Amino acid sequence: MEEINEVGMARGLTNYGDRAFALYLRRSFIKSMGYSGDILKKPVVGIASSPSGFNNCHRAMPELVDAVKRGVLAAGALPIDFPTISLGEVFLNPTSLMFRNLMSMDVEEMVRAQPMDSVVMIGGCDKTVPAQLMGAASADVPAIQLVTGPMMTGRHKGERLGACTDCRRFWGNFRAGKIEREEIDVVESRLATTAGTCAVMGTASTMACIAEALGMSLPGSAAIPAVHADRLRAAEASGTLAARMALGQVPVVRPSDVITPKSVENALRVLLALGGSTNAIIHLTAVAGRLNIPISLARLNELSDTTPVLVNLKPTGDNYMEDFYAAGGMSALLRELKPLLHLDTVSVTGETLGERLDAEADSWIDSKIVRPASDPIEPVGGLVALFGSLAPRGAILKRSAADKNLFEKEGRVVLFTSLEDLSARIDDPDLDVTADDILVLQNAGPTSRSGMPEAGYLPIPKKLAQAGVKDMVRISDARMSGTAFGTIVLHVAPEAAAGGPLALVQNGDRIRLSVKHRSLDLLVDEAELARRRLVLPSTLPHIPRGYAKLYQDHVLQADAGCDFDFLRAAAQPQDQARGA
Ligand code: FES
Repeated sequence: MEEINEVGMARGLTNYGDRAFALYLRRSFIKSMGYSGDILKKPVVGIASSPSGFNNCHRAMPELVDAVKRGVLAAGALPIDFPTISLGEVFLNPTSLMFRNLMSMDVEEMVRAQPMDSVVMIGGCDKTVPAQLMGAASADVPAIQLVTGPMMTGRHKGERLGACTDCRRFWGNFRAGKIEREEIDVVESRLATTAGTCAVMGTASTMACIAEALGMSLPGSAAIPAVHADRLRAAEASGTLAARMALGQVPVVRPSDVITPKSVENALRVLLALGGSTNAIIHLTAVAGRLNIPISLARLNELSDTTPVLVNLKPTGDNYMEDFYAAGGMSALLRELKPLLHLDTVSVTGETLGERLDAEADSWIDSKIVRPASDPIEPVGGLVALFGSLAPRGAILKRSAADKNLFEKEGRVVLFTSLEDLSARIDDPDLDVTADDILVLQNAGPTSRSGMPEAGYLPIPKKLAQAGVKDMVRISDARMSGTAFGTIVLHVAPEAAAGGPLALVQNGDRIRLSVKHRSLDLLVDEAELARRRLVLPSTLPHIPRGYAKLYQDHVLQADAGCDFDFLRAAAQPQDQARGA
């Protein structure tokens, strides 16, 4: 029998007990798509694409797939694109996070099961890039992440608008009665005006930058706007590099070579210097967890205290992703952070970070957008983890997007026991609340009925908003959009639905927040908490079947990245303690 090389179409043959027959059968079927025998002998570059009518952020994906194919073909390999599920942030119920793990399983299994020597993964909207990175890390096939890129801004009355920090600002003004229904209807058409992901440093932009900081994307590609010709050139170059790896012309670099404890720490530095999305902590923890790399929130605090915020983008600053790209993008940021980074990490190009930065040493930086380390926007990082009796396994505060006057605060609890309770009462004119109170939301964590939505940005009660109150301390086990602003404590772990101390909070209790001491405490004595725990009803919803049941049975808490316990590389400490 002739020997069959495990390359291209001959990879991962179906097992009929006769490999030559399996290859003959596969080639017969793929020939129905018009391929010649010669081209089917070439190495294969898979292109994992995720366009969907329910995902506006991926609108330009067909063009990107064409550009990747062009790069692959020109290099001499065979490109084959395939779909995976797509997660459009605003179209998924109960929340897109719930489906991130499903998409990661889709990516992992399809990359592993189908015959490809390398893969370019194209994602963009919030959960898609984490899902692709998680899947690629587990499959460990040579993989390059390509993002769809951010939207351009729109215009309204001479002002630039970008989804979705400005969405929230205008909605806040509408709720406070400062603008009329006619104007908010006009603004609705001016917030998201091109293909691409949200125009600010929200979760999608943060994850694009993290993918590049990890080394999983081509240098300089994270911030290119979706509609810019450079985006297509980055797609073509991604295809070329993936093909050259498949052809053996350059060293094969696998996700496990790229995603290492050092590159994860670099990614955390970048996240902090961006003033990036709180969601990225969850996603990066999940990606790293696939390769048995733990992220400790205590270490996050150490990094945060030694990493300045340098990027002046909304919601932390004033500008948009198109400005970041024009200012020098990730290359500029990495150069400013250079003394803090591990320079011996390797990217998909095979080059070390140090080599990359040396080659880019003379590039121009717009220091209004990417500030020098000597003149930062904030001297310390954007995120901090808080610990204490209310959050034994941690909670997250985005201090760069919060009101510093609220950093040291003790206040009375105004409690909402669920999202339904919140929407029913938050605007009640009779709600007993003052600007000095702390709003607390329970049962919005990973295993709750609501599946950890971006609901941590609790609205300011209408009567206070109308009186001019802009910010209050708000605490929950939910997440927050990366585009939001406020003194908002998120990801309280363990969550209320899993019986964490958050479940024991009652209306009128007092809570003390101290950003200085990184603490979050429920000021109720132990005996009283023990009494409450004895009569605590279960709020876990009964889910009889399907993916929702798989999710509820296996999802881990926020400090373990909300991955499934059985998808992580090996048992990690948090896996033994899924609940309280
Ligand atoms: Fe897709 Fe914001 S809705 S990135």
